[in-house]
Amino acid sequence: MDHRAHMSLLRALDTQMSRLCEVAGVRSPEARPLLADLLGAAGSRPVSAPPLWPSGIADDHSPVEFSVAFDDGGRAPTVRILGESLDAAPSVTRNGHAARAFVHQQAARFGLATSQFEQVWKLFATNRPAGEFMVWHSLVLRDGRTPEFKVYFNPEVQGEDRSVDLVREGLRRLGCGASFDSLLGRVIRPGAPSRDRLTFFALDLHDAPHNRVKLYLSHHDARVEDAVRAAGVVDGVDTDVVAEFCEMAAGPHRVMSGRPLVSSYSYLGGGAEPAGYSVYVPIRSYVSDDQEAFDRTRAILERFGFDATLLDRLPGALTDRPLRDGVGLIAHVSLRLGPPRPGVTVYLSAEAYDVFPPRTGALATGLDQIYVA
Ligand code: TRP
Repeated sequence: MDHRAHMSLLRALDTQMSRLCEVAGVRSPEARPLLADLLGAAGSRPVSAPPLWPSGIADDHSPVEFSVAFDDGGRAPTVRILGESLDAAPSVTRNGHAARAFVHQQAARFGLATSQFEQVWKLFATNRPAGEFMVWHSLVLRDGRTPEFKVYFNPEVQGEDRSVDLVREGLRRLGCGASFDSLLGRVIRPGAPSRDRLTFFALDLHDAPHNRVKLYLSHHDARVEDAVRAAGVVDGVDTDVVAEFCEMAAGPHRVMSGRPLVSSYSYLGGGAEPAGYSVYVPIRSYVSDDQEAFDRTRAILERFGFDATLLDRLPGALTDRPLRDGVGLIAHVSLRLGPPRPGVTVYLSAEAYDVFPPRTGALATGLDQIYVA
């Protein structure tokens, strides 16, 4: 956006974050200094300059993505920031070390223990990383509470072939997920190269005796049945609801051959089996423009009993462009089932650097896939 061109990245993102918090009714005075720490030297660059680092957080390489979580039980919504720490001279390794420094800085500020983070860091860290990141962060802003932190490790950081071993050992060190191999056996589709990949190993940044650990699997070329199978391994998850959610989010696309569908499994209290399941649909790959993404998301919120009028106010907190003029502002929608907090989350791009043009033709309708599949 032209009027933003002269703004610094920190100023542009902070403006969006505070508007989002205002709309969602979240007061969090700590949020701005956190964002500044996260961005480091990159924060002072103008958004008109090219990104300091081609962050994978968002398609336009913004190092931040926002999300708003609608929780069951009438609880107030939560604003979250997925972000990547950037070193002043960025590389995967240097950004990883910047991420670790950020974790220690925030742990000191908010009195959080870091021993579980360190156990996983020692396992995953490498001087020759594969892939595009070592550690990402999530900052969770709840009204009137101090921020909460989650960290995401990259299971493929030592190469794709090491990911299962790293995750198995990570779970062992944190004392949960004893049935990991049987879970993988039930979820992963046969064939090489695998179309189901371990993409994140996440933990909350505090040291409750049994922390929450979340495992993310990306399903490439997935059909709704694949999400149903992935969800079905968790006790008590209603797989019909998962199917309905995926169908509503993906629209006519029978095979999600764009960005992958993602599953996550939450382990609580040191459990051998996951207690919760979430599914994330990268809706931006399966719509022609953001108006379509918005309409589907609104229908989902209504179907699941949430206040859809809050959604109406979210795009305007981030951008003044018409929804029809681009695609990707609504990046993902997710459904969370089971503990700790069931609900729906809407992921929103900052678009600090770029807006993607609407799609036209067969790709936009999904008809290509109906005929090919
Ligand atoms: N941009 C990346 C992707 O789409 C990472 C990412 C950002 C992501 N937000 C996410 C992945 C939400 C899953 C769910 O894959």
